Amino acid sequence: MRILVTGGCGFIGSNFIRFALNQNPSDVLINFDKLTYAGNPANLADVEKAHSGDRYFFCRGDIADRSEVLAVLEEYRPDAVINFAAESHVDRSIHNAMPFVTTNIVGTQTLLEACLAAGVERFVQISTDEVYGSLGPTGKFSEQTPLDPRSPYSASKASADFLTAAFYHTHAFPALITRCSNNYGPYQFPEKLIPFMFRQAANNQPLPVYGDGLNVRDWIHVEDHCRGVWLALTKGRPGAVYNFGGDAERSNIEVVKRILQIMDKPETLIRYVKDRPGHDRRYAMDFSLAARELGFSPVHAFESGLAETIHWYQNNPEWLDSIVSGAYLEFIKQWYAKDQRL
Ligand code: NAD
Ligand code: DAU
Repeated sequence: MRILVTGGCGFIGSNFIRFALNQNPSDVLINFDKLTYAGNPANLADVEKAHSGDRYFFCRGDIADRSEVLAVLEEYRPDAVINFAAESHVDRSIHNAMPFVTTNIVGTQTLLEACLAAGVERFVQISTDEVYGSLGPTGKFSEQTPLDPRSPYSASKASADFLTAAFYHTHAFPALITRCSNNYGPYQFPEKLIPFMFRQAANNQPLPVYGDGLNVRDWIHVEDHCRGVWLALTKGRPGAVYNFGGDAERSNIEVVKRILQIMDKPETLIRYVKDRPGHDRRYAMDFSLAARELGFSPVHAFESGLAETIHWYQNNPEWLDSIVSGAYLEFIKQWYAKDQRL
């Protein structure tokens, strides 16, 4: 199978390409990525070395640019397309939503149109639990939960989901959607909670916990998410939506304290700061449909997975240095200075 992955130089896309190359030896992976601030070719340096020009091809391009998308489809003629490409950080969407509309909505529509015209046989739209909104203290999101996105990021992802579903219903385009909870693992961009807190602690800088620190996320190891996407690609029903979760609900403060413990750093580094506007309180995923239809279940336990992840960041300082650009530092400075977060 020839599989085109968009956003393959990001956190989950790069882990997915590595995962997929270890499945069927005859499969070929094409990575189409714009290389935004979050896209880092170094995430795939090992893959590039082992498979470039043979089972792995990189093509720089923008999913919102019709001619670039048509060109990559024409050149590589993939059987399947998996759309990981996105603006993915909620805080950035609060700061400036327009890139989220351009990539997540216009980009997905552009990709869908081109893939339909090219006769792509399977399309997987990578979505998020955030499209369902926010939970109270009990209950879980199922695929039947009405969409109720509350940040510009999740609103743009929900729009992409609706467009994908519309292509299935209107054009019988063989698309399906996967929705996953918070990922952690190697190669995550250091604006997200776990690598950001790691970097702050490593530099003995304050760890800014939003609000009361009791917001809950359901953490899944990125490798478990990749396995879910692979199962959806190879066994999923066109038109279906599949939830994936890690069965690991933790409050933010629990996660931050655990990171400090693993790093042997003091809890006095923690600062409770002004909350994220519109901060969703709790996410939890019912993934029984994926368990039943795809045989999905997460295998990584959160505590050991988190320790391994922190050790990976400790052992790869050059990776962290390579991804920390001027543009990234400028955003971090502006965001955390706002409302005296830091
Ligand atoms: P990321 O920010 O680490 O990577 C995004 C990648 O997309 C980067 O390589 C970037 O260069 C590329 N990209 C951005 N705009 C592009 C464009 N217009 N054209 C082509 N490439 C473009 O994101 P991530 O955390 O790996 O998330 C990947 C996908 O998974 C996203 O769709 C996100 O919504 C979804 N998701 C993420 C999580 C999570 O916890 N990180 C959970 C559920 C779903
Ligand atoms: O749930 C899936 C989503 O998870 C994905 O769709 C998004 O792409 C991904 O970014 C992630 O969104 P979150 O907003 O949950 O992730 P983030 O790492 O930004 O924050 C996790 C929690 O930690 C959240 O409740 C906010 C809190 N937080 C985050 C940062 C960066 C803090 O308290 N302090 C911080 O400095």
